Amino acid sequence: MPLTIDLRSDTVTKPSVEMRRVMAEASVGDDVFGEDPTVKLLEKSVAEMLGKEDAVFVPSGTMANQVALASLTTHGDEILLHEHAHIIDHENGAAARHSGLQLRTIRDASGRLPLDQVREQLSASQHRSTPQTLVCVENTHNSAGGTVYPLDELRELSIEVHARGLKMHMDGARLWNASVATGIPERDFAACADTISVCFSKGLGAPVGSAICATREIIAKARRLRSVWGGSMRQAGIIAAGALFALQNNRARLAEDHRRASLLAQAIGSLPDAEITHEVKTNIIMFGWTNSHVDADRLVEECEREGLRFFSMHSRCVRLVTNLHITDSDIGEAANIISRHYKKLS
Ligand SMILES: Cc1ncc(COP(=O)(O)O)c(C=O)c1O
Repeated sequence: MPLTIDLRSDTVTKPSVEMRRVMAEASVGDDVFGEDPTVKLLEKSVAEMLGKEDAVFVPSGTMANQVALASLTTHGDEILLHEHAHIIDHENGAAARHSGLQLRTIRDASGRLPLDQVREQLSASQHRSTPQTLVCVENTHNSAGGTVYPLDELRELSIEVHARGLKMHMDGARLWNASVATGIPERDFAACADTISVCFSKGLGAPVGSAICATREIIAKARRLRSVWGGSMRQAGIIAAGALFALQNNRARLAEDHRRASLLAQAIGSLPDAEITHEVKTNIIMFGWTNSHVDADRLVEECEREGLRFFSMHSRCVRLVTNLHITDSDIGEAANIISRHYKKLS
């Protein structure tokens, strides 16, 4: 069997035999009628874990973000977010298409929203006609190399945003990673935001599903919007069981993904002219270079021929993501393959 080490994303994992068994045996009912006990249990568990009144299960992280945005805004509002937020770069213009939102962005290499820039934008908006109603953060930040939003910074931001009468949404697709990396409970991060989206099918390894957590009132609205957009599911307990299993069994082990990402970053970060552009604290590595002639797409192609898969971000940067299928020996092998081809292409 040819070697395959898939570091394209933490979304590529497949459910284990044990997870599949739990899914097959799940109690189910019609969730549109509010009768699926496994979905109800998942929603209750995740809401409690995040310290919110309620939660709603949705098919994807994108739907979770978009339903949350729509629940907190009115068509024609402006929202403030990072220029490389997943909501902007990878959601197909959904915020504009579904919710008629105007997006104002903040640029910062850290993936965070520096308070001075937020203040500047919020103050400037008082002299503009478009109502600014929402600020979005991403924790961890995908395109900023899985960086964790420091809790004290997040709290300060939240206080500022709420003092000015705006709301806050957190894209917490990888909130579990932020929590495991820092030892800070998810609910402490979640307390800063009005809505949080979390995902079960990334590092946690469930096949499908995300949730939005918020107050009962916001979740009632989100539940309706999920239906408007065709996202209500019937006997969804089968997939909710995978999500519950993932939450209970695969959360603590994220520390292994973080350790392996850090090992790989050390190995390839010492290559000539190479740079790990963001300190690796979770499971995402941004491997870049400045002067070398290596073309990122060529590097991806050459490595793929040897069974190692990852994505290029631009001509001088690639992204590698550890996940629950990756072993210590995969890390050693990946470092060798990358080093060899990087040096050859330099
Ligand atoms: C930070 C972040 N938010 C949201 C999503 C969207 O999740 P999905 O692919 O389930 O729609 C992703 C997907 O990778 C992500 O990285």
